[in-house]
This record gives sequence, structure tokens and C-alpha cells, in this order.
Amino acid sequence: MTIAPSSNQTADENAGTVTFLPHQLDALYSKSKFLVLTGGAGSGKSFVALEKCIACASIYHDATIVIVRKTRESLVSSVGIQLENILERDPNVVHQKSKNRFYFKKTGSYIILAGLKDDRQRSALLSIGKKGSVDLIWVEEATQLSGDDLKLLLSRLRGKAMGFRQLMVTTNPGSPQHYIYRYIIANDKVRDKTVIHSRADMNPHIPEDYVEWLRSQDPSSTFYKRYWLGEWVAAEGAVYPQWTPDIHICDPFEIPEWWIVMRAVDYGFRSPASVLWAAINPLSGDIYIFQELYQTELTANDLAPLINHHTKHEITSTVTDRDPAANQILNENGIPTDEPDKDKLGNIDRVKKYLDNAIKRHRDGNLKPYEHPALYVFNNSLIAEDEKLVAKKHPLRLADEMLAYEWEPPKEGKETIADKPKDEYDHAEDALGYLLAHIEAGGLVGFGAMDILDDIWD
Ligand SMILES: Nc1ncnc2c1ncn2[C@@H]1O[C@H](COP(=O)(O)OP(=O)(O)O)[C@@H](O)[C@H]1O
Ligand SMILES: [Mg+2]
Repeated sequence: MTIAPSSNQTADENAGTVTFLPHQLDALYSKSKFLVLTGGAGSGKSFVALEKCIACASIYHDATIVIVRKTRESLVSSVGIQLENILERDPNVVHQKSKNRFYFKKTGSYIILAGLKDDRQRSALLSIGKKGSVDLIWVEEATQLSGDDLKLLLSRLRGKAMGFRQLMVTTNPGSPQHYIYRYIIANDKVRDKTVIHSRADMNPHIPEDYVEWLRSQDPSSTFYKRYWLGEWVAAEGAVYPQWTPDIHICDPFEIPEWWIVMRAVDYGFRSPASVLWAAINPLSGDIYIFQELYQTELTANDLAPLINHHTKHEITSTVTDRDPAANQILNENGIPTDEPDKDKLGNIDRVKKYLDNAIKRHRDGNLKPYEHPALYVFNNSLIAEDEKLVAKKHPLRLADEMLAYEWEPPKEGKETIADKPKDEYDHAEDALGYLLAHIEAGGLVGFGAMDILDDIWD
């Protein structure tokens, strides 16, 4: 089956000479309602998804093709740039930059870049397409989207231009609890689907040393299983198995003026420095990480002005790592610092309690918030992605670390006891630990005095 008689030719005209790999041809020709390209890193999933979008826009008349990532900004700076490079010399394609779309003159079709970060991006997406309908949607890095995001996308998929409609997702594997796995990949009730698994060693176009690097990872690690083998496995050694993106990641909102705002800093240079901006509701004790910086190669001298530049609220305290030289630089830049308890295990327990509370309250709406203070992260918290970390497929923010942070595996012949986390992917985690340790030690939020507020919540 082919997309159209001239499909390969048309794709080639636009993209130079492209030779697709066998698993990519399957993706190119699939007309299933759901097309899931999953597998290890670097296996050529995004490449073929992009080529398919271009091929369809070149072949089909009046088609609306939408490419989606959680935030439109991250999409524009990744796929958007690739599209520009491929299409810039094509006289038949007009890049309407301010509208984040590419217009194909010969066919009248569009490729549109969209995001789901906030209400603005969501309503822009809802207004896309001729009579509000879309023919092909490609979701890049699909594990970042929530189940509700996916439902919203499916509701747009009503186009008639191509003779088939498709939701195509590209994703590295995540937890088998993830809705993409549960509701699409492993769900027999969804019949009209094609799932294509691929691995880096099926793609001769990536550097051999990258394949070797993936292959040489610790075979017991979740990273190895997901990014090399391409398997949807639970993070068995996960420090925070209770982390649930659908519950703990929330839509952004305006921070009320009377809330407490704090910052937490974990220094780094080769590994990322992490700065968290946290807003605390003094009535409930709920903590919202509303902004974060997560970036490599920043000294304290770089960090201080960045912290000041991105701070728009009055700050009650800034908790940091125990690093006198770095702290002094922050102090000299108008950032007084506090050093809370660095007890890693104690801080992990504190984070767990806040995560558990969010889940309990999600399940039981009658629980009193101030008796179960919870932790949430804004879905648009990250100021900007660090390209170096993107290239290495490392965590880009706190929410990613929550999935990647693991316990050290047990020593040969010893019982499994979770007593030491691995020394990686713990940067935002450490900052979060300092934050909670400080809140508890300082009694910043007077939970004890809250009994009188029973009435308010009842
Ligand atoms: N058929 C192909 N021809 C040329 N280069 C390819 C082809 N397929 C993939 N690549 C290249 O291989 C690299 C990894 O592919 P990518 O699609 O980014 O992998 P994934 O999305 O699975 O992580 C990219 O640099 C991409 O350009
Ligand atoms: Mg990719």
C-alpha cells in the first residue's frame, strides 16, 4: 500500500534524496487511525514522521496537518527549524512564520505547528483547520502530553482531504502506566492502529559512538531498557514511583499576592544547575513549582543575574547547596541565602509525603488540604530547554528527573534496600529537598494553627 502513486517521488522532490529504512516505510504507508512510533533513542522515528507530514502536504489537496509538542516554543526550535531547512528552497512552499505554519501552494495544504502549554496555545489549536477539522496530527515526544491533551487532539481529527485520518505519535518508551501504553499500545479494543518498534541499531544514519554509548549503559537501568531496548518498563528502582504526571503536573495560574514565594538552588556546571521558584499557599501549605531554570555550564557568576532577572515576586528566602564561594557570589548580587538540612534520605521522604498527599486528595475530594499539603509543578515551569541536555536525551527539568531518579541497585548478594539514590538526575531533586527541609524546619507555614480554618474548607 502506498500513500499515493507518486508518494516517494513527491517526498523526494521536497526533501532531496531520501532513502527510508524498512521500519520507516511501514510508518510512511500506514493509514491507521493511530500510528505509534516507539522505541529506542535515535532510531529514526521523528525523521520519518516529519517526512510523512511533508509528503502528505505535497500530495493531498486542502489537507490540514498539525504537528504538536507540549509547548509550541520547543516545537518551533526543534521540528520547526528542520522544516525550514528542508523547505526553504522549495518555491512551492511559503513559510508564514508569524502564524507558525507552512503553506503548500500547489496543493493548498498546510503544515501547522502547535502546542498545548496553556489556554492560549490550546485555543489556538482548537481554531486550526478548514471548518475546524484536521487530517493528520503528529505528536512529537508524546509522553509529555496528558490523556486530556490527547482527547482534545482526537476531537480535531475530522478532516476529509486525504481519505484517511491519522494521529501519529512518536515517543521514547515511558512507564507502562502511561496512557499511551495502556490506552493505545496495549489496548486490544483499539483495533485501527499500527505500532512500530525500532531501535538505534536499525538506523545506520546515527554515529556509531552514540549507539555504543547507549549499548554500554547499565543493563539493569530503566534508561537502558527504555532508550536502548525501547521497552515500556516501570522504573523499578524509581525513587519516586508515586510521581504521576496527570496529577502532579498542573496548568499554570496567576500566583496570588498573599502567597509565599521561595527559591531553591542546586549548583552545577557539567551537570545542570537547578533553580526552582516555589509558591506556597499559606492556608493549605500546598507548594507549586511555578518556574525553573535547568541548565549546564553556568557558574555562580552567571547564575546570580539570571536568578534576579527571572524573579518577579517578592522572595521570602532562597535556599541553596552548601557551597560558601558560590553562596557568597549570590549574596553579593542581592540574593541572601539559607542553607537547610542536606539529609538526602530525609528530604526524599519529605518529597514523597507531598507527592502522596496530592494523590490522596485527587482520590478523595473530602480530605482537608491543610492536613495533606501537596506538591505540584506548573506544566510550563521550564524557562528554556538546554540544547546540550536535549541532544543527550537527559532530563530537561524537575518533572523529567522525577521519572529518571533511581536508587543504586543492590550490591551482589545483598538484600535490596533503598538506602542510596544514584548520583545522577538529582539536581532539581536536591533543590526540591532543600526547599521542603527549609519549610519544615522554619515552620514557614503554620500548619498547627490551621485548625481554626476548618470552617473555611468545610
Ligand atoms: N532515512 C534516513 N535517512 C537519513 N538520515 C536519517 C534517516 N532516518 C533517520 N536519520 C537520522 O538519524 C538521526 C536520528 O533520527 P531521529 O528521527 O531523530 O531518531 P528518534 O526520533 O527515533 O530519536 C537523525 O539525525 C536523523 O536525521
Ligand atoms: Mg525523536
